[in-house]
Amino acid sequence: MRPGNDTPGTSDTSGSSDSGGAPCAAGRLPLLGHLIPLLTRPMPFLQSLADYGPVVRIHLWRRPVHVLTTPELVHRLLVQDAAKTEKGFVFDKARGLLGNGLFISEGAFHLRQRRLVQPAFHRDSIRGYATVTARRAASEVSRWEPGRPMAIGERMHELARDIVVEALFATHLGSARKARIDRAVPVVLTGFVQRALYPSALLEKLPLPANRRFDAAVRELRAVVDDIVTHTVPRQGPDGTLLDLLLTARDEGTGRAMEPAQVRDEAVSLLLAGTETTATALAWLFHELAAHPGLQDELSEEVCAVAADGSVAWSDLPRLQRTGHALSETLRLHTPNWILMRRTVAPLQYAGVRLPPGAEILFSPTALHRAPRIHPDPMRFDPDRWRRPGDHASRKLFIPFGAGPHKCVGESFAWTEMLVIAAAVLARWRLRPAEPVRLRETTTSATVRPRGPRLIIDPR
Ligand code: HEM
Repeated sequence: MRPGNDTPGTSDTSGSSDSGGAPCAAGRLPLLGHLIPLLTRPMPFLQSLADYGPVVRIHLWRRPVHVLTTPELVHRLLVQDAAKTEKGFVFDKARGLLGNGLFISEGAFHLRQRRLVQPAFHRDSIRGYATVTARRAASEVSRWEPGRPMAIGERMHELARDIVVEALFATHLGSARKARIDRAVPVVLTGFVQRALYPSALLEKLPLPANRRFDAAVRELRAVVDDIVTHTVPRQGPDGTLLDLLLTARDEGTGRAMEPAQVRDEAVSLLLAGTETTATALAWLFHELAAHPGLQDELSEEVCAVAADGSVAWSDLPRLQRTGHALSETLRLHTPNWILMRRTVAPLQYAGVRLPPGAEILFSPTALHRAPRIHPDPMRFDPDRWRRPGDHASRKLFIPFGAGPHKCVGESFAWTEMLVIAAAVLARWRLRPAEPVRLRETTTSATVRPRGPRLIIDPR
């Protein structure tokens, strides 16, 4: 363990957290804290924090934040200590803007909402979303042009948005509303993270172009979803959309339905939580496969043995085992959510470090999945790790979808969507890098995205 070595001349002046016991990471600057390494080389910085021990203090501006660096402690935070935490300062700001949907809400309200929303993600519904995904994916890949360099990340973001929007709203939507959603979602997702890092709420009020764009996109997103919710007469039955299920859900105890404003918040929450994550994971998968042509051929053979045209149904998915291994490895090495947060509402103690109520806690699922103690040679993309999963795949050590009461409600949706899209691409196209450019990571939004060569596709 490295000693705690505050930069001389800086001290904890916020008084908002008892930092006793946790070493402070090196490189803290006056006022800025550790913002520069966090923004300029986020993953190396977050991965390096494990060298200080299981709990380390960093500062975002002058705000002290405790980083947990072992999966065991993070699991305790998310599962056993869930009732002693809330979501933290990133979400405080979001609540005022984006409402109180699952992704943002807390405590008893969250639990009640979770019970209402969860049934929309049961098996029978997922089977229907698989059909939507297969149709959308087939239409997308049929439009690709061989030989022309393509930004796979952009294609995946658009496709993932189309799929979540169709699963949510289907026929209730119309192209004008869809275009408004398409414009607003990426701006909201990027602005959400940028806002969280502003040092003062005053900055949000300044007439900066970024603020104006973000505020307008938030208003637009809420308005269009409000409009859809207000004008939807929900249908019961197997063809229902996610929105139909939200509108017809009834609280077990009271028998009451959600208020329309709450349905809107839940729909916005699903739109934001369910598009960028899946799209980013798929973009990484395709970049890795372009760099590993042998593996790509192997997966393509697997897919074609199940469905020659790559159009797989929900019942086919268990047979896409190797494709599943490649996706698990993608979710390990390139875990989309690079940071998540919590805040204590009761005293907690981790590895001897006392955290009073109000202490902000951060952890990086991506960094945790790169710990050599758990995943030997962690930076190597190696789907064979999942052939015989072993300890590293335990629910404690592998948490791309989180854990505890806030665990991703869309996990099965996401797995289905990713497998169906991967099959549609791999049956039809062979991917290769268009330029000799190194694959890098960028964290300007809520996920760690690939920045690298465009991909060229050749027909199989
Ligand atoms: C590869 C794809 C995905 C990944 C890696 C992912 C990851 C996560 C993670 C880590 C959390 C927990 C956040 C926390 O503890 O603070 C979460 C929550 C959530 N996710 Fe996902 N997600 C994915 C896809 C989806 C999809 C497709 C949907 C919906 C269509 C979705 C909806 C949600 C919602 C609503 C929550 C909040 C759940 C709650 O707090 O009760 N996610 N996701």
